[in-house]
Order: sequence, then structure tokens, then C-alpha cells
Amino acid sequence: MGYELDEYEVPLGENGKAAWWTGVIYQVYPRSFQDTTGNGVGDLAGITARLPYLADLGVDALWISPFYPSPMADFGYDVSDYTNVDPLFGSLDDFDDLLAEAHRMGLHVVIDWVPNHTSDRHPWFVESRSDRVNPRRDWYVWRDPKPDGSRPNNWLSMFGGPAWTWDAGTEQYYLHSFLAEQPDLNWRNEQVQEAMFAAIRFWLDRGVDGFRIDVAHFVMKDPALRDNLQHPAPPRSKGHHDAHGVYRDLRSILDGYDGERFSVGEIHIDDPTEWASYYGEGNDELHMPFNFSLLNAPWDATAIRDRVETIEAAVPPGGWPNYVLGNHDEPRITGRVGRERTRVAMMLLLTLRGTATLYYGDEIGMSDREISPQAQQDPLGSRVPGEGRDGCRTPMQWDPGVAAGFSSALETDLWLPLGDEFAMINVAVESDDPASMLTLTRSLLALRKRIPALRSGSYLGIDGLPADVYGYERRSGSDRIRVLLSFTDETRMVTTGPGRVLLSTDSDRTTDGGGSIALGPNEGVVLA
Ligand code: GLC
Repeated sequence: MGYELDEYEVPLGENGKAAWWTGVIYQVYPRSFQDTTGNGVGDLAGITARLPYLADLGVDALWISPFYPSPMADFGYDVSDYTNVDPLFGSLDDFDDLLAEAHRMGLHVVIDWVPNHTSDRHPWFVESRSDRVNPRRDWYVWRDPKPDGSRPNNWLSMFGGPAWTWDAGTEQYYLHSFLAEQPDLNWRNEQVQEAMFAAIRFWLDRGVDGFRIDVAHFVMKDPALRDNLQHPAPPRSKGHHDAHGVYRDLRSILDGYDGERFSVGEIHIDDPTEWASYYGEGNDELHMPFNFSLLNAPWDATAIRDRVETIEAAVPPGGWPNYVLGNHDEPRITGRVGRERTRVAMMLLLTLRGTATLYYGDEIGMSDREISPQAQQDPLGSRVPGEGRDGCRTPMQWDPGVAAGFSSALETDLWLPLGDEFAMINVAVESDDPASMLTLTRSLLALRKRIPALRSGSYLGIDGLPADVYGYERRSGSDRIRVLLSFTDETRMVTTGPGRVLLSTDSDRTTDGGGSIALGPNEGVVLA
């Protein structure tokens, strides 16, 4: 047998049961979920209208990407007011309705918090750039040019080009890890910390259950702003150890509230030990840093097992793992691995130990849409050709009707075009099809709810399987569940001993094992 955890522990909530955030989180990209005003852009009332779908699907929580007032240079990741709602998405009242409805249905609500940078139109930055002696000057990272007039250091923006923009009015450069329209806040300034934590409290007071923290590891910079030794390379603003203090402070704010208030950070750090350090020593920082290791993994049984077991080994005692198959920054899973393998990918996501984050539309098998350069919306795509993220942000496909049920606007008036396959790949059509991706996702979510071992059991990798089959066992008390996943287009015989197939990715499977199982091409099974 392979790697086994000696001890495992599921984080508990106040009621003594597994905390809600150990379940499944569904990511909603608000522009693309449901439009109720007919302007071709989704809104908060649209999310509220679709909550019954999410409750019925069987997820535990939704995470909503930013809906704050924003000039939309980066579609909401450029915030100009942290304590309000952009009129495009509705109002604070609409948000309160959404939250109340979600809670009534037993769904938790996670919102995005963007601490690293604001919009350049945020009043704080407008003041900061107005004058070198403005009290808010130090809220952002301003520096003089080098004596030869060049930029303060060699840092690059994550979105291409230098990370410094010259401000002619005050004759200094300001730092932006992303667009020039997204100036970086100076987290070494205590007033900045107070103001940003006040925004957190504003939403906690309203009843929000948690926060997804945008580029969480960027908040603290090298105090000396030294050049990157490797160049070209992203700014040295990633992962400065002083960021840990920020998340310890955040954690104590969250823990000071009733219920289980939660934090998950967007942490793109490849080194597993450094990545895991964001749980905090004694688990006093983030509840979890997002684990993106499946996003770029080769679709290969050994590679996937290796990624899973690397994470299992890295998560500190008392910490809780998590897995992500897609989000609003990545090409969708269907395109990455091929439609025929997407079902196994979903079984993997929903049967591993840890929180699963499901990107809207992946449950029905939506794929990326090719966006012509003229129709391109994403600023990253315009600056770095080939990197555009519009393809995975197309409107949710609800039904085969006008605008796929997303909007009453004409298809040509939607903010992004519909996916090519929306007539077949949509919620309505798939709900009636026992062989659909949606039916499989629902069944997996239901199984996970029904069987404690799948939700909170230990993980044990199974050795001795064919090289292109990955299997693991999940155990809780006397419950023992096995998952076998095929990564090949051929059939593989697997000796299983006694066992009963509870669910297969192949809806036609009829045989039940009986000591061994012929695992079909790209088939996954859950065995009791
Ligand atoms: C994060 C977001 C991405 C955004 C960037 C800048 O990576 O997920 O969408 O563009 O931060 O805020």
C-alpha cells in the first residue's frame, strides 16, 4: 500500500460536525451567471434567482467573484469601493437578499477580497497621486526614478510590461503588479491595514461567511524593493514572509465572529512547503491556500497521484487539503484534458480528501469558446496574445433557448458570446439525460454527502494497479470506499477483491465487480 496519513482530522464547526467549508464550493463569475436586466451582463439578482439550482446540485457554498464598484479595467478586480455593489450588478439590498436566500437554503456565501491593489480611480489613489504630501501618499508604493531617470527596479507586471508607471503630475513612479489601472496598496502602512480590515468587518457584519483572497501572497513587498535577480521574471512582490502577519491578523478577525467564518487565499506558489506555510504555524493563518496543482498537471495516473500525495504530505497537521479543477483565469478542464476524460476529472475532484472548488459550468461540461481578437474583452489577452481568459468566462448555459437562458438580450448583445455547444451542453437538456455530465456531477455530490468516508475519511493511495490507473481508498471508522480512475483509452483489468460499484462515470456499466473489474477507457468507479 502507498502513502498513508498517520493521523487525520477534519476541522469541526461549532456544532461539532465537519465545518461547512470542508465541503464543496461553487465559483460564480457574476458577469456570466444570470442576467435579470437584459443588458447582457449577469447580476446579483440573477445569482439569487439561480440559488435553487445550486442548492439542488448539492454544493455547500458559493464564492462570488468581485461585484464591487469598479471601472472594470480587469472586470471587477480593480475595486473603487470595497463596501458597495457596482450598479451593473445591483445594490447592497440585492446583496442582502442574495445572502438571506442562500442562508435560508443552507448555502454559505464567500466573497472576493482584493487586498493587493485598488482601482486607479479609487478615491484613495486619486488622493494619493494628487500630491506628494497628501496624507494618503504613502497608501501606495511610490518611488523616485533612479538617477538616470529609469524605473526604481526591474520588476515586471504579471500582465506584461514593467510594474512601474510614471506619474507626470508628481514626478514619481507607482508600483502595479497587474495593470497600471491597478496600483498596489502599501500594506506596510498601518492605516491601509485598518481600512482594508474595516472592509472585511463591513461584510462580516452583514453575515458573509468567508473570503477568497485575491493574490494573497502579493500583499507585502521586499522593503528594499531590490531588483529581481532573475530577469525577466515577475516582481519580487510574491510571497514576502511579512504577508503571514497580515493573515494572522485576518484570522483573528474572522475567529472573533460567530459561526465559522472562512478564508481561502489565491496562492500561486509551486514549492509545497512554502505554499503550505500559509496555513500558518498552528493553523492560525488562512483556512486554506488554494491548491492549483491539478490545473497544469499532465493527465497521467502517476503524475496526478504524485500531485495529490505531495499535497497530502505538505498540509500541516490539523490543516485541510483542497483541490481546484478550474477558475476564471484558466482554460476549462474539458479543453485541457479532452471531453472524454472530463468525467474522470470530476470524479477525482469530488472524491479526494479535501474541499473541492467547482467552477461554474464545469458541472455540465462547458468548454472554452474561441474569442476573436475584435471581440476580446480581457485586458490580459490584449497585452499578452494567447493569454486571454475570455474563453472560460462565457455565459452559463441554462437551456437551448435564446441566449441559453442567461439573458433576455439578443445573443449578439451579450458581454461575451455563448459557447459553441450551448444547444446540447446546458442544464435543461442535461437534467433529463441520465448519461449527462450534469447527472454524473449531481450523483457524485450526492454520494459525497451520503458517505462520510468520502467527505471526511482518510486517504490511502493504492499500489499495484496497472500503470495508467490511479486508485485510492478513503476510510472513516469501519467505512471503506475505493476509487479507481483510468487514464487510458484502453480497457484495464483490475483485481479488486470483494466490492460493489456504487457509481461509475460510465452510465452504461452493468457489472458489479465480483473480485475484479474491467475498467473501461477513461472510466472511473467508486467501490464500496
Ligand atoms: C487574480 C484574479 C485575476 C485577476 C488578478 C488581478 O489572479 O484571479 O482574475 O486578474 O488577480 O487582480
